[in-house]
Amino acid sequence: MPLHRWVWADAQRRARKLLRFAETEADGGRHLSRAAELTRDASLRRLYLRHAEDEMRHAELFRRRGRELLASRGRVFEANWLAPGERGLDDLEVGSESDESLLAFLHLSEKAAAGRFAVYRDVLGGDPQTRAMFARILEDEEFHMSYTRKQLARLAPRRQGLRLWTARAARLWRTYLRVATALAGVLGTLMLALQYFLLLPPFALLAKRAARREPEGFSRARAAPPLKSQY
Ligand SMILES: [Fe+2]
Ligand SMILES: [Fe+2]
Repeated sequence: MPLHRWVWADAQRRARKLLRFAETEADGGRHLSRAAELTRDASLRRLYLRHAEDEMRHAELFRRRGRELLASRGRVFEANWLAPGERGLDDLEVGSESDESLLAFLHLSEKAAAGRFAVYRDVLGGDPQTRAMFARILEDEEFHMSYTRKQLARLAPRRQGLRLWTARAARLWRTYLRVATALAGVLGTLMLALQYFLLLPPFALLAKRAARREPEGFSRARAAPPLKSQY
């Protein structure tokens, strides 16, 4: 909580985060429109379309509020890994999933988003307007969370547990990849720094010692060979 409070305290950072969230929501909206096109289930199509509209509206809300807050320009540390938005929806591969696995994945993403947005709402005491926006969006996310769960139960009454389990594993794997990539970047920098500080000094020392062994000033050239013979 104190961490989130810190992340959201700065108005500039808040603005940039909201603009980033707007992109994620819009991505999610596009994926859901595609899912609505692909499904053969009429009631799912209706729900996906409504869901897509919700996400597009969220994108618009985030964008508007972000622009309002963004009074001055400048690069700010966004701390995205600390406070991601409705992540997961943006890297959805709609075409390759069945309705069941899509619903399971959506349910988990929406649940995570709802949890995060509730935290953001709670730490935004200093910005009542943004807090109210999160509270409004949170209602939609809770609806998304519950309709996906109910539809999963309707389509796969017996396999719903398995579907959720598989989706959870896939999400964990993606999180692992994300963390591993970030960690690899950090470790790479660290290794270079270590090499610089651990390997360079001995060589510098050796070079210094070798330099000390050299006689100072000009050294006498080898004696010239006698020029009497041609050899
Ligand atoms: Fe959303
Ligand atoms: Fe959502």
